Amino acid sequence: MPNETNIVGDATAVLEKNDRGHYTQPSDSLYPHQWLWDSCFIAIGLRHLNLKRAQVELKSLIKAQWSNGMLPNIVFRNEDRYRIDRDQWRSWLSPYAPEGVSTSGITQPPMLAEAVVQIGSKMAWPERRLWYKSMYPALVAYHEWLYIDRDPHQEGLVLLIHPWETGLDNNAPWMSELHEHLMPLWIRMVQKIKLQRAINFVRLDTKHLPPQERTDAIDALSMFSSQRRLRRKAYNINKILDHSLFAIEDLAFNAILIRANSRLESIAKAIRVELPEELSKDIAKTRHALEELWDEADKQYYSRDFATHRLIKVSSIAALLPLYAGSISKERAGMLVNLLENEHAFGTAYPVPSAPVNSPWFKQEQYWQGPSWVNTNWLIIKGLQSYGYKEHAEALKESTIEMVQKSGMYEYFNPIKAGGLGSSNFSWTAALTIDLIKSA
Ligand code: GLC
Repeated sequence: MPNETNIVGDATAVLEKNDRGHYTQPSDSLYPHQWLWDSCFIAIGLRHLNLKRAQVELKSLIKAQWSNGMLPNIVFRNEDRYRIDRDQWRSWLSPYAPEGVSTSGITQPPMLAEAVVQIGSKMAWPERRLWYKSMYPALVAYHEWLYIDRDPHQEGLVLLIHPWETGLDNNAPWMSELHEHLMPLWIRMVQKIKLQRAINFVRLDTKHLPPQERTDAIDALSMFSSQRRLRRKAYNINKILDHSLFAIEDLAFNAILIRANSRLESIAKAIRVELPEELSKDIAKTRHALEELWDEADKQYYSRDFATHRLIKVSSIAALLPLYAGSISKERAGMLVNLLENEHAFGTAYPVPSAPVNSPWFKQEQYWQGPSWVNTNWLIIKGLQSYGYKEHAEALKESTIEMVQKSGMYEYFNPIKAGGLGSSNFSWTAALTIDLIKSA
């Protein structure tokens, strides 16, 4: 086992460097704002260093909550030099956006309830009770919003309207849908006349990093164009879903929601309050509805197109996240563990790759289409532990720490060679490494 004291020291230094007082930026160069699921993962690590600071991290997220309950995936810094980022979203176009702070108009995986409980587990009862009570109303409002806005047909599965909402930006199933259905003609023209290099020249992320480590230029253009469309509709879900070809019942998001719902139930129980009746019914529905995403022939779960109910049979790291949901049968959990171990699927030298190696989408270095990420490893480790796969969980924990030890606190890693990719000094890598080591 690598020297854990040094890693914790390095990780702590990264979190200190990225600390902006009331929140932690994911990294200095690329991500100066506050991101929703990043702050949840960061708080889970921070709880080992400074419990108060971990609480502040989450409190600042709920200060930016929309009046309809939405938690935005980005809360922007208000300095002049970031006006361009705020203007890209113009959250103020929506009547629900909060006063005095600019945000994005979409959400990200619901990790907040998990982070609240992880922090709570470090507290003695009277303090934990106060903590839970202070976070409970925002959590209920958020989960209610997910069902009201994002489950319009009351199917139990919530839909997403943009790949950025998955947190797994250019993941293969979403990009395959984007190519099939949502590429405007002008972007197809750009592709045809091979203007990608010119686009990379003006992109911000490829100023810092090699293009082969980031989202493909055409995909990035399509994502920005689809974001513009959401802005034109002022983030109003009814207007967005009207004529939309791009709403997906995302597997990873719904699996994370199931776990978050269980966490919310345990918070309610601990503070002796009843969850709203409607919400309780929705929660029960989601656990069953996830099974509709199972494909018996391929023995795995997939995301589903919202309008047609067609399974999007393109595999990605999402396939393993029902383990984290905790609601699937032991038998199906076992089949997912087989996928995790299979060297033709997810069983690489430094797992877990964000796309299986036997997928035509797999590329060792390209963002969410191959590299291993510490946050998804953390989710899978929690899932393995909850299904009793202790040795598998331990092995994945060790290889994750080893990858970080070898290369540093990178954003993501080559799944074969462990080389660091993307941004260096990345906050959730640091925070979750601390958590993996400290919660042994
Ligand atoms: C990228 C990641 C997303 C993360 C954000 C900030 O967009 O795909 O998951 O939240 O960066 O780190």
